[in-house]
Amino acid sequence: MADDSTGQTLHALADERRTFPPTERIKADALTVDTSLYDEAAEDDEAFWARQAAELLDWDTEWTTVLDWQLPYAKWFVGGKLNVAANCLDRHVAAGLGDRVAIHFEGEPGDTRTITYADLLAEVQRFANALKGLGVEKGDRVNIYLPMIPEAAIAMLACARIGAPHSVVFGGFSSQALADRIDDAEAKVLITADGGHRRGSVFPLKPAADEAVESTTTIEHVVVVKRGDNDVDMVDGRDHWYHELVEAADADCPAEPMDSEDLLFLLYTSGTTGKPKGIMHTTGGYLTQVAFTHKYVFDLHAETDVYWCTADVGWVTGHSYIVYGPLANAATVVMYEGVPNYPGNDRFWDIVEKYKVTKLYTAPTAIRTFMKWGVEEPAKHDLTSLKVIGSVGEPINPEAWMWYREVIGGGECPVVDTWWQTETGGIMISPLPGATTTKPGSATFPLPGISVEVVDEAGNKVERGGGYLTITRPWPGMLRGIWRHPQRYHDAYWGRYPGRYFAGDGAKLDDDGYLWLLGRVDDVMNVSGHRISTTEVESALVSHPAVAEAAVVGATDTTTGQAIIAYVTLRSGASDVQSVGIDDLRNHVAGEIGAIAKPKTIYLTPDLPKTRSGKIMRRLLRDIAEGRNLGDTTTLADASVVDEIAARATATPQED
Ligand code: WTA
Repeated sequence: MADDSTGQTLHALADERRTFPPTERIKADALTVDTSLYDEAAEDDEAFWARQAAELLDWDTEWTTVLDWQLPYAKWFVGGKLNVAANCLDRHVAAGLGDRVAIHFEGEPGDTRTITYADLLAEVQRFANALKGLGVEKGDRVNIYLPMIPEAAIAMLACARIGAPHSVVFGGFSSQALADRIDDAEAKVLITADGGHRRGSVFPLKPAADEAVESTTTIEHVVVVKRGDNDVDMVDGRDHWYHELVEAADADCPAEPMDSEDLLFLLYTSGTTGKPKGIMHTTGGYLTQVAFTHKYVFDLHAETDVYWCTADVGWVTGHSYIVYGPLANAATVVMYEGVPNYPGNDRFWDIVEKYKVTKLYTAPTAIRTFMKWGVEEPAKHDLTSLKVIGSVGEPINPEAWMWYREVIGGGECPVVDTWWQTETGGIMISPLPGATTTKPGSATFPLPGISVEVVDEAGNKVERGGGYLTITRPWPGMLRGIWRHPQRYHDAYWGRYPGRYFAGDGAKLDDDGYLWLLGRVDDVMNVSGHRISTTEVESALVSHPAVAEAAVVGATDTTTGQAIIAYVTLRSGASDVQSVGIDDLRNHVAGEIGAIAKPKTIYLTPDLPKTRSGKIMRRLLRDIAEGRNLGDTTTLADASVVDEIAARATATPQED
């Protein structure tokens, strides 16, 4: 943890001494107000999870073994059978909850749809039949590339219903990124839309989908949801309108009983190499953990709550806390299509007031942006319906935490800062609203049934102070592997500290045993809560014909957490900045990966600082990007390079 920026964070956090016990208001009807769940799980974590699985879910066949753990492979609820869609829909309708709203959809232009559990079940059955009609069988992979519209949830549930694992690709990713994911998963069908609404206009999706399908070989059919009403080309025999398929499909589609360990979905995420990895999540354990955590972390009262998670379904937060966790719990969710500042900077608060949202789950980047927009925006709306407010995706600084608590939560709502990852499937570290005394900026403690330890460089347990976050026991929602790369799975997560899952995050334990997450300690950046690997952006830059070499670092940014800064050396003959503009390079990255990976700033430099063994010195580049004093440069092959880069960094204006 010699990193300077982490050192500064540690220092700032050490001064944070405010504490907030649960308020009387929340304790009055909270699901849990004491340590009983923690005590039960500490006694026997397998028995604890087995009780949750039995109470929260319906099983077609009971399991015979709770946990089969052969490090690094875990199997949960072995022998058990269940269907995720049946757990999210059928059983609620059968229990008389058919009229309960499952999804309040709010389109960016202001159009709305109210979808009850009965409606959702009917639509999912028809679409599941439509997929079968296109030849999708149990075990086949289906790619989903959609805007934030109800059809995204419907498509996921339809896949789950027939046992076809889905792979959702965030709609902001480029056609190239989509093609890579289609190829890796060997998907048979792609579900997309003509376009979606964003920032007041329609963004087309179908052209990117077409490009991806043309450059891959496995997609047999493309299903197109009509949303943007933009003109699209439909390929005869290959492309089908969603609404036509659904209209023609049979109404009844029985849910396929799936093995607890059958693959539910793949979700690609960035690691420390240039190639995204297909994180594998299975059925019974995953659904148990997301249902449990959604219920207790948000202190869910499903009959009265209106729950809103502002993430996109393309990320794991959307999978676990827009779709699977909430629907398994028969909750009413709000789903919003667009950006927070359309038509005005108060759109989120307008939505909270309109639907009387009680539980809100958003990201620190959004909170810091709202802080910049000013208290007058939330002040235009009545936010008193809110009861619990959550944060996810990146470390939340104490100032943003306090602002969220005071301005959005009116000082009455517990803030739940939830730490977890695509790989963990569900929330791992978080307060429980009625039971935990919070501290601004701390995710507090591991949830019941979750065992974590902070260790030092050598892997020794740290009782107090900073180190690396590890997980010491298998948990039900844990990834089951990386699709087609078992060795990479072992090496990436279990290789560094024997017997421990290493999460890639730094963490600190304070004197009271509270956990403070400090961000990534590997080559993964966190930009606005989105994981992007430095190597991925470097590969994208190097794939531009004019680029010889590139080094990418994440530099601290007050709004987005980190910002992508690239140092690029052009090929000789292409060194003329006039012919290869910085914007060309930024757009090239957007084309390769997606707009979220566009470097904020690119510095063109004659050379990159390297050690004598040829390793690029990223820490030095980060120091330059963050304007820090440069330390010892004696290990460098050519120290003058650094002065040259530093001079350019001061002289080059920042891009927006
Ligand atoms: C970071 C998102 C601090 C962390 C659910 C982790 C956090 C990465 C928090 C996973 C938090 C997520 N406090 N850092 N509450 N939540 N992170 O896979 O670095 O997109 O490793 O999953 O986000 O990002 P992912």
